[in-house]
Amino acid sequence: MLLDRPSVIEGARRHLSDSPFAGRIELVGGDFLTEVPKGGDLYLLKWILHGWDDEQAARILAACRRAAAPEARLLVIEMLLPEPWAPSQAHLYDLAMLVLFGARERTLSQYRDLLRAAGWELESVTPVSGDYNVLQAVTAP
Ligand SMILES: C[S@@+](CC[C@H](N)C(=O)[O-])C[C@H]1O[C@@H](n2cnc3c(N)ncnc32)[C@H](O)[C@@H]1O
Repeated sequence: MLLDRPSVIEGARRHLSDSPFAGRIELVGGDFLTEVPKGGDLYLLKWILHGWDDEQAARILAACRRAAAPEARLLVIEMLLPEPWAPSQAHLYDLAMLVLFGARERTLSQYRDLLRAAGWELESVTPVSGDYNVLQAVTAP
């Protein structure tokens, strides 16, 4: 199931109709700042949170938490700003996010705090290619 803005979903529907994957994807128009589809056992936010400031990112995480099934997991795929400071292309993206959207890249501690405040407990971090990381969280009791 893929959630995006209704206008984006409209375009995706046109492209998906010719695709062999059409039967395997459900497209949903909506606004993740307020509500996401309920009852999922896995929510995936890839390149989403870095495009929003802390207040809006917290709203997105809280919407996922409200919707999530009790044993659900959340995967967040993002770059991490190194702690302590070290050279990294994440700093360049941090600047770009600030200038473009008033948003930011974050350290692992900052993601942990954001997740916790929204009712998620960070469980693991797996580095993947291109300086990205998969942050896995579970619903906090
Ligand atoms: C940086 S893109 C990431 C897309 C995809 N996850 C990826 O990895 O390529 C951010 C996406 O969030 C969508 N988006 C922005 N605001 C949204 C909102 N309020 N509700 C749902 N989707 C939104 C955009 O249309 C865009 O497709």
